[in-house]
Amino acid sequence: MRLTVDTALCQGHTRCAVYAPELIELDDDGRARITVAYPAPAQHDAARRAQQACPERAIIIEEEEGEQQ
Ligand code: F3S
Repeated sequence: MRLTVDTALCQGHTRCAVYAPELIELDDDGRARITVAYPAPAQHDAARRAQQACPERAIIIEEEEGEQQ
């Protein structure tokens, strides 16, 4: 899994960092910044919750080939 944020879409709702504080932090403007681009398997659920929590759909998850969805 690769985790990224579309900075053009992020409006600073902060929900992603609430759901996955170990993967995402907020910069000084309250915008998301990914701290772990390749989450460990145990962190995948948190990454997906963060993605689903973002009303702007700014959190992007790319599943690597062979990974479970
Ligand atoms: Fe931005 Fe969405 Fe998080 S708007 S701060 S990526 S909840």
